[in-house]
Amino acid sequence: MNYEKILVTRRGPTTVVALNRPDKLNAMSMMLKAELVRALQDLDADHETRTIILTGTGDKAFTAGADIHEFHGRTAIEQWRMYEHGTLYDAVDRTTKPILAMINGYCFGGGLELAMACDIRIASERATLGQTEINIGIIPGGGASQRLPRLVGMGNALRLTLTGERIDAAEAARLGLVDEVVPHARLEARTFEIADKIGSKSALAVRLAKAAVRASSRLPLDQGLRYEQSLFALAMASEDKEEGVRAFLEKRDPAWKDR
Ligand code: COA
Repeated sequence: MNYEKILVTRRGPTTVVALNRPDKLNAMSMMLKAELVRALQDLDADHETRTIILTGTGDKAFTAGADIHEFHGRTAIEQWRMYEHGTLYDAVDRTTKPILAMINGYCFGGGLELAMACDIRIASERATLGQTEINIGIIPGGGASQRLPRLVGMGNALRLTLTGERIDAAEAARLGLVDEVVPHARLEARTFEIADKIGSKSALAVRLAKAAVRASSRLPLDQGLRYEQSLFALAMASEDKEEGVRAFLEKRDPAWKDR
């Protein structure tokens, strides 16, 4: 598949998808977002890819958010139509494989919403994050009003959304907005370390575990616990469960079949 605004690079079981408009701080144009949606759909179906890393090209930005130039003149009806077919954030949410956000620099507005839709967020100590829409007279439209309070609590979510202030990676980690902060030079190695470790497990078990944990953000506790039990029972029926248990008993590494 050919893309103009993103770069897709495979490295073993991990595929990196990089937003690629470095001169515009990887601002997400409609075209870039459409390419990202297509790439995620393709990679979710691709047997060689076990884990996906999202990042930005260049030295400065993960992404500075939606392309503000495209907001100019957009009507309410046009905006509504864009939501009708589902958004980039919905596409990230629907991806069954683990997605890691490798936050290499600026991560603002829709960029932070993109990172929050991912499963794990690793940030360079150079990263700066912010829910900055309020600074241009609008509000978040890519999920921040719901995902941000779930990650950082109501007060911090409101503070970030209403002030539009930027925070550094250390504060983001303290708030729970990113999961780990690493020196810039270690960012790629550490993110790959996590991705490759996930990639070494049974892809079926990883998929079930992701589905169970992510359900916790949308289901009441009793329903979430039932859902976990259903997925656990499904895992018990898998060939990988037989292989994993046998390998443990025989003191050897398992050879996963991903079914
Ligand atoms: N949409 C479109 N273009 C953007 C952009 C965005 N969100 N963010 C940056 N750019 C473009 C700039 O217009 C500039 O393009 P130009 O060279 O053609 O003028 C280029 O990227 C570099 O940006 P610049 O502002 O010169 O870099 P900087 O290092 O001085 O500042 C930021 C970086 C991120 C602080 C600043 O660009 C910014 O505040 N961007 C908007 C972030 C934001 O609020 N995003 C949420 C949108 S809802």
